Amino acid sequence: MLPKRAFGEAFIYTQCIILVVPSLRRRPPPSPHFPIGGPVPAEDLVGREDYLRRIIGRLSEGTHILVAGPRRIGKTSIILEALRRMARHGALTAYVDCMGASDLRSLAGHFANAVLAPLTGVDRTLDLARELAEGRSLGRVRYADLGPLLGLARERSAQKAFELALDVPRLVAARSGKRVIVALDEFQAAGRLGPRVFDVMRAHFQAQRGVAYAFLGSEEGVIEELFSEKGRAFYRFAQPLDLAEPGAARFGIAPEDWLRYLVAKYRAKRVRIGETEVDRILDATGGHPQDTMQLCARLLELARDSGVEAIDGDLVGIAYERSLRELERPFALHWSELGKHKYLQQVAKRIAHEAVLYAGDPGGATVPRAEVLRALGALRARGLIVKVGRGRYEFLEPMFGEYVRRSDGGALTATG
Ligand SMILES: Nc1ncnc2c1ncn2[C@@H]1O[C@H](COP(=O)(O)OP(=O)(O)O)[C@@H](O)[C@H]1O
Ligand SMILES: [Mg+2]
Repeated sequence: MLPKRAFGEAFIYTQCIILVVPSLRRRPPPSPHFPIGGPVPAEDLVGREDYLRRIIGRLSEGTHILVAGPRRIGKTSIILEALRRMARHGALTAYVDCMGASDLRSLAGHFANAVLAPLTGVDRTLDLARELAEGRSLGRVRYADLGPLLGLARERSAQKAFELALDVPRLVAARSGKRVIVALDEFQAAGRLGPRVFDVMRAHFQAQRGVAYAFLGSEEGVIEELFSEKGRAFYRFAQPLDLAEPGAARFGIAPEDWLRYLVAKYRAKRVRIGETEVDRILDATGGHPQDTMQLCARLLELARDSGVEAIDGDLVGIAYERSLRELERPFALHWSELGKHKYLQQVAKRIAHEAVLYAGDPGGATVPRAEVLRALGALRARGLIVKVGRGRYEFLEPMFGEYVRRSDGGALTATG
């Protein structure tokens, strides 16, 4: 086996195999009318142009960025589009989903493979190195091309493999002379893979020239602590970029952008929709990206099934009920998770009903003021509620608020 210090030399070899095995590259699946529940292709990414310009600007000048926010609002979609654009302009880009790693070794593998992919042209460079070592020939890739990577592929200690992998971006940047951009999605999940994972990462990342990191996280509480509390591993390491500007639409997508997108999308299916109906949709969903897409998908189906050429308010109402029913399951999961903590459901119900937060319940039970405050903090950290004024809160996702109101009144079980 090669000595570990030979690892840096791998890139002299890996650079000459940009050719290979194009069939192994990920191919995008055919996109449905409204992509729901996963990153969207460029043509379905509504709004976000200003935001994309900002993140691309920052990453190109080498500033690390942080995108935190609840699930299903489009974080992954945005970063993947930013990476695609930057790759077209010559950057070497890598995307790693930290939630997809079961342990430190697999994170090391995902990380190194992702960073090496733009150089080698294959998704699983490390596996390839291993297979080649076992004597299998793979297309035009030769052992000599990847052999030196075996230091990493064969490293017994997961911790050492992880540290070797974390150095790959620096080596790739140094060897290629190009800017390397690494996006780490669901970053908070990396912290569960072992002790001091974040400290080790920071120690490696901060010395890397020519590499910019984008951190994405959906557990805002964890992420905020990690990046903004003094003494925490990533304190002040990345510039946070909020998806929504203060005063703009809650989820950062302007109603005009939704209107333009929806009119064109429906027109392609020979269905008309006007501004009034789009406003109505956005009122119902609060502009929440995935809820809006979901409602619009149902609406298109309804219109086509019933041969309607122009969408009206009634049809929007029916589509709303259908999509609310589809969302019941994910909402129920959220809801039962809240049930594990004292007072969270109780306070959430009060918010859903716009009830006074600190008063006693009609039944006589009183939630102590300190507990209400704690519950509000916990609901905010989960990205479920937002403050809209002094002592006033709303559900971030209006459809979740509606779910809570209905399940509370028993109406929801009846619709089952
Ligand atoms: N800009 C957008 N335009 C249209 N739909 C979006 C947009 N952002 C998110 N969505 C919807 O939300 C879903 C989840 O997006 P995703 O990028 O996976 O969010 P996150 O990473 O925040 O969980 C998508 O499948 C799509 O339905
Ligand atoms: Mg995501």
